[in-house]
Amino acid sequence: MFVITSKEMKELEKRTITDFDISEEILMERAGISVVQAIWNEYGEFSNKSFVIICGSGNNGGDGYVVARDLLNYTEAVRVISVGHPTTEVAKKNYERYLKHGGIVYTYSELGLEGASKIISEADIVVDALFGTGLNREINDEELTKLIEVMNLYSKCIVSVDIPSGVCADDGKIMGCAVQADLTVTFGLPKVGHFLFPGRELCGKLKIAKIGIPSLDMLTCDINKELITTEKLRLPNRPRWSNKGTYSQVIIIGGSNKYIGAPVLSALSALRSGASMVKVVSVSKVCQCAMSHDPALICVNIGEDFNVEKLEDFIATVSKDVVFVVGPGWDTQNSEEKLSIIKKLLLTSNTLIIDADGLNVLSQNIDLLREKNSSKSVILTPHPGEFSRLTKKSLEKVKQNYELVHEFSKEYGVITVLKDATSIVSDGKKIYFNITGNTSLSKAGSGDILSGLLAGLISQHLEPVEAVKTGVYVFGLAGEMVPVEGMNSAFSILNYIPEAFKRLRE
Ligand code: ACO
Repeated sequence: MFVITSKEMKELEKRTITDFDISEEILMERAGISVVQAIWNEYGEFSNKSFVIICGSGNNGGDGYVVARDLLNYTEAVRVISVGHPTTEVAKKNYERYLKHGGIVYTYSELGLEGASKIISEADIVVDALFGTGLNREINDEELTKLIEVMNLYSKCIVSVDIPSGVCADDGKIMGCAVQADLTVTFGLPKVGHFLFPGRELCGKLKIAKIGIPSLDMLTCDINKELITTEKLRLPNRPRWSNKGTYSQVIIIGGSNKYIGAPVLSALSALRSGASMVKVVSVSKVCQCAMSHDPALICVNIGEDFNVEKLEDFIATVSKDVVFVVGPGWDTQNSEEKLSIIKKLLLTSNTLIIDADGLNVLSQNIDLLREKNSSKSVILTPHPGEFSRLTKKSLEKVKQNYELVHEFSKEYGVITVLKDATSIVSDGKKIYFNITGNTSLSKAGSGDILSGLLAGLISQHLEPVEAVKTGVYVFGLAGEMVPVEGMNSAFSILNYIPEAFKRLRE
């Protein structure tokens, strides 16, 4: 499913109006009616309910007047609080129509905060049509801020039109203050702000309504942002005649005397996601741990520490189609040597996933990435802290920064997975958002599981970008299957990976 910004929405509406002769009025009418339908579907019939619609002065307010008028067909218990007179022609028209239908409008300036609070607290459902995607600056007006506070405090239930007022449609940030909705009904396509926090949280349940905007193909619009959904996900093909040699090997290079479990989690995850042969290249203690967890793992014991010569000898013996994961539990000690190992892998391996301390080591010389051959696939799986070190930007600047993920991936010719509550993936061409998962994944070791899972999928010959999309989705799904959210160790997520794949195949 495509995801758009407010500017892209404006363009889609403009093309719908000019190229398809569907007027602003029709769009607004359908938008308003679709909100009423969504409320009905969600909360049941209207005869025993009362409504307050808070209308701003722009077209979002215009949608609100359509909602109010349509509700009058079902109940008389409809009131509007207008926050500023409508300023656009189409919003004005719908304001007039609502009045002609006998609708009641209170102005916020006349009611004052106390009057507005009373009306809001008496209603069963408050419809928030204050600001939509047209919010273009911080809300710093004291009266507006107080109104939003009152809506959040006294409403029994809030339905936001398009996006909760105060949430920026382009990055999900709060512009001063914002409405906490129970249900948000958006139009045509979801906006980026619906999927990035805190906006994602403030939307409540999200519904996407069709209002007559033609498909992107018809509108000849190129949108480069997508939400990862099951529809387009690829799963590995495992022919019945296949044997372990049909698939590529996975080799995990990582672990240290300090972090023993990380590469083991990664290796076990690769097996759970379908890899046929998984090797762990590490220090003695890690090899012992790996063997004790699963004797099917193959360990290459490099002794007490990593050394580039030893690794070179080993890499020279493996086939080109191996999928390497480098970094889980590696530690950043002896980083010069480790940087040389990464360089060697970048030059020789066809597919390389760099994770955890592999990324921290790489951040000392990110330009190494430019030395790789463009036909090779390199996947980086940073969390925001690691991405901040890679980009030399503050944590604040990199968090949820999908444009930066996109630019970075393009510049270095890599696939980047910025792991977070909403994960962002880019191959430098497109940007993908993943929203599966929950706090069961906010655990030490869960990143190691993801890197192994991605390697397992690529070893079964999925294209790297497809493997990443499927991998992040399945990983999130596995987290959602933990019986009690958050009451788990990352280790337990391993058990749910096959189950998550099964659900996808059903
Ligand atoms: N504080 C105070 N006021 C603000 C702030 C702020 N922080 N930020 C923005 N505003 C004001 C703007 O100045 C503007 O007011 P003005 O018109 O008096 O100058 C108003 O808020 C605009 O806010 P919105 O109503 O959110 O923006 P817009 O008028 O662009 O409407 C829209 C958004 C089109 C309704 C969108 O949410 C949507 O797509 N809805 C569904 C389809 C629809 O109904 N389309 C309408 C017809 S088609 C068209 O408009 C091209």
